[in-house]
Amino acid sequence: MALKLIKDGTELSLGDSEFSELNKFCEENVIDLTFEWISGQFWLHSDIPKEKPIGIEIDRELSRHEEYLKKSSVHKELLAKAIGVKGTHRPQVLDLTAGMLGDSLLMLAFGCEVWATERHPVIRFLIQSALKNAQHPKLQNFHFQATSAQEILENGPRTEVIYFDPMFEDINEKASPRKEMRIFRNVVGSDQDAIQVFEKALGKKTKRLVVKRPRHSANLSKAPSVQYIGKSTRYDVYFSV
Ligand SMILES: C[S@@+](CC[C@H](N)C(=O)[O-])C[C@H]1O[C@@H](n2cnc3c(N)ncnc32)[C@H](O)[C@@H]1O
Repeated sequence: MALKLIKDGTELSLGDSEFSELNKFCEENVIDLTFEWISGQFWLHSDIPKEKPIGIEIDRELSRHEEYLKKSSVHKELLAKAIGVKGTHRPQVLDLTAGMLGDSLLMLAFGCEVWATERHPVIRFLIQSALKNAQHPKLQNFHFQATSAQEILENGPRTEVIYFDPMFEDINEKASPRKEMRIFRNVVGSDQDAIQVFEKALGKKTKRLVVKRPRHSANLSKAPSVQYIGKSTRYDVYFSV
């Protein structure tokens, strides 16, 4: 069986339509994945035995960010600077690459309203399961759409900021050992259409297009208007002219 879903030690039937997209993905890609229901949501078993399953703890992450931001000013955060958080202004953001929601949740904790999309069935499933299990009040400002960046750029909301964090490697990048990155590389693969999505996003002429890149990697396409450079990450900001 390519897809296995476990709840309370019992294997679930895959007949439920909730699982059909995921099941189809596993069958078509001849990939074995096991998800287990733990504490109210599904978690993906790691390919490394004894490693903790992978899931998104939305309420916990949001509370963790909020606690941190109580002690340290939001205005010091590189991502906040990149998306144009200033004074009490909190931009609306369209996150084209939700992934494990790391950046979306941080922007929500800043106080932004966030629309996010994700195209990969495995990551979508983890997001949707985690969202059903989450109750944090900030989630009223979060709108998730299980579609593609291309589609949401065509038909989604017009926001002040478009945020783009693709899995797009260049030769200067070193392989990252982080567990989440390994999952992305193994299950999701790299985003071969990143440059096309970037061009499309740029064409929307939104106030800011923010692209997250590994610190030493090349520009996705053209040079940004401004860069915010951290220890391992860089935000390339393109202002609409
Ligand atoms: C590097 S990860 C994003 C990580 C995310 N920013 C976070 O903090 O967790 C890239 C994600 O974007 C998704 N993605 C890439 N291109 C996409 C597209 N054109 N439409 C929708 N999702 C896309 C991938 O499936 C992957 O889950």
